[in-house]
Amino acid sequence: MGSNTKWKLACQVEDVPSDGGACVSFGEEQIAIFNFSRRGEWYATENRCPHKQQMALSRGMTGSAGEQCEPKVACPFHKKTFSLLTGDCLSGEEYKIRTYPVMVKEGKVYICV
Ligand code: FES
Repeated sequence: MGSNTKWKLACQVEDVPSDGGACVSFGEEQIAIFNFSRRGEWYATENRCPHKQQMALSRGMTGSAGEQCEPKVACPFHKKTFSLLTGDCLSGEEYKIRTYPVMVKEGKVYICV
């Protein structure tokens, strides 16, 4: 880890269900962390859905979109979907969510906030 990186311990690997998400708070901020175990990948985004400001994305369903198999999450409220790579809304709207780098090391999950 370089001195300029701001990796913060978010949780333990076992805190996040397989192919599911968990919410971690950093001060005011809620971050959704996803264990996309079908793909062996981890992602982190803000937990707030920009559609109706629900703190809900950590409870969303993960999946893959399109030919590129872009990893995505669907908000549990009205099923708007967001790319876990770019944060772009994949439901054809202008919404965008913040995404964060994730690192898993020795059973611990770190994010760069
Ligand atoms: S609040 Fe997330 S889709 Fe409506």
